[in-house]
Amino acid sequence: MEKLSASEVLTNDYTVQVATTEHIHLAEAICLEMEESAKARGTGIAKRSPQYLRDKINEGKAIIATDSVGDFIGFCYVETWEHGKFVANSGLIVKPEWRKYGVAKAVKARAFELSRTRYPDAKIIGITTSLAVMKINSELGYEPTTFSELPVNDAFWKGCQSCVNYDVLTRTDRKHCLCTGMIFDPEWERKKALKEQEEISSEESVMIEENAHEPWNFLKDVKVLERLKSIKEKMFLKMAERRANKLIANRD
Ligand SMILES: CC(C)(COP(=O)(O)OP(=O)(O)OC[C@H]1O[C@@H](n2cnc3c(N)ncnc32)[C@H](O)[C@@H]1OP(=O)(O)O)[C@@H](O)C(=O)NCCC(=O)NCCS
Repeated sequence: MEKLSASEVLTNDYTVQVATTEHIHLAEAICLEMEESAKARGTGIAKRSPQYLRDKINEGKAIIATDSVGDFIGFCYVETWEHGKFVANSGLIVKPEWRKYGVAKAVKARAFELSRTRYPDAKIIGITTSLAVMKINSELGYEPTTFSELPVNDAFWKGCQSCVNYDVLTRTDRKHCLCTGMIFDPEWERKKALKEQEEISSEESVMIEENAHEPWNFLKDVKVLERLKSIKEKMFLKMAERRANKLIANRD
């Protein structure tokens, strides 16, 4: 059966999932696509061997998009740095004929979800020159950051060595390059949740306070007031009567 091109199939006719052992055989093709794409962009490439991708797949740290016949159309994987303090969703690639169909968006969203589940306390980071990736990242909640907020670990920056702009990075002492650094800090969510909780608590105390100062309902309390009045009359009028009697007796 002749395969349809991306423009001929429905744009949602693909599957995005955590790659499993059934995708291992696609590692070579993915690697090749990464190299081709880097050549086309003239950026150089952070070298990944097919074995590296196989390892990622085996560890359940890769996301793959496949078409209706099971061929790879998009990919990325999750890497950790500085003992899980940072997580990067790297190696994003979409086959050229499948670009602009939302594949990268779907792959990145799944990688983000996987990263949040497996490493809930890690900061999720990325560096990129791609406007598409910046757009996707910001929709996921990333914000631009300075390189000083990224891992200091040499292993993290090693991936940049094969990039044509690597000398810019070294000349600036890893402070600047053509890439933009982006970060998502789970602490932001915790702070937001805490703030929301504080707002709810303060709203609750205002409500309690308001109820405590409920406007006085005279009609509701009139029975109580009548009883109080009669007690007072008995007490004070009797007291006054006794005092008057006493005064008269003293005069006599
Ligand atoms: C970058 C890449 C992954 C984008 O894949 P894609 O599947 O075409 O992206 P999507 O269709 O999910 O697009 C996501 C958003 O980016 C926008 N976009 C896509 N390509 C774009 C481009 N070249 N320039 C600007 N915006 C772009 C889309 O319009 C979309 O925005 P929208 O939601 O407002 O419509 C793909 O072009 C690719 O594989 N490039 C080569 C490898 C690469 O650059 N990888 C990134 C390394 S950091």
